[in-house]
Amino acid sequence: MPSPTALLREEHQLILAVAAVLDRVLAVEVPGGPPGIDTVDRCVTFFRLFADACHHAKEENILFPALEACGMSPDSGPVGVMLGEHEQGRALVRSMGELVGQARDGDRDAEPALRTAASGFVELITSHIAKEDGILFDMADQLIQGPACDALCAAYAELADERYEGHSKQDLVDLAGEILGVG
Ligand SMILES: [Fe+2]
Repeated sequence: MPSPTALLREEHQLILAVAAVLDRVLAVEVPGGPPGIDTVDRCVTFFRLFADACHHAKEENILFPALEACGMSPDSGPVGVMLGEHEQGRALVRSMGELVGQARDGDRDAEPALRTAASGFVELITSHIAKEDGILFDMADQLIQGPACDALCAAYAELADERYEGHSKQDLVDLAGEILGVG
């Protein structure tokens, strides 16, 4: 039975698992040193390429337009809120990436800023996914059915060979596996 949201819900579980690792790594105080910087660096890559380039792109380019075709506003209401949160997440991931570089270069001020940005991102992505899974996606499951649902699933399938900065989706799933292995 095709579903307009099953694939996205599945991707959410992987994003939440990596966010939980980031949260745990940040909870470990390393006096005078950055917090598990290699793991944080891998998490940032995963969030940039999997959570944003692969997953949010499917929502923004495929699911949300399908909801708009059903009459939902792209600018206000749940879709508008989700788009705003995607932007906030992007800014935090960009900031984490810059701070990881500064921490590696020995900038002592970078560590607390990195902790703040990372905990802000974990909080944001956790509540964002809860809203999508619990509200917007349930609405999508009701609204997008029949041929519209088939078209949506075909659009997801067309992305099978997509590359994200040269990485396949499977590469990014494997990266998550490595992160979860050390987390
Ligand atoms: Fe999502």
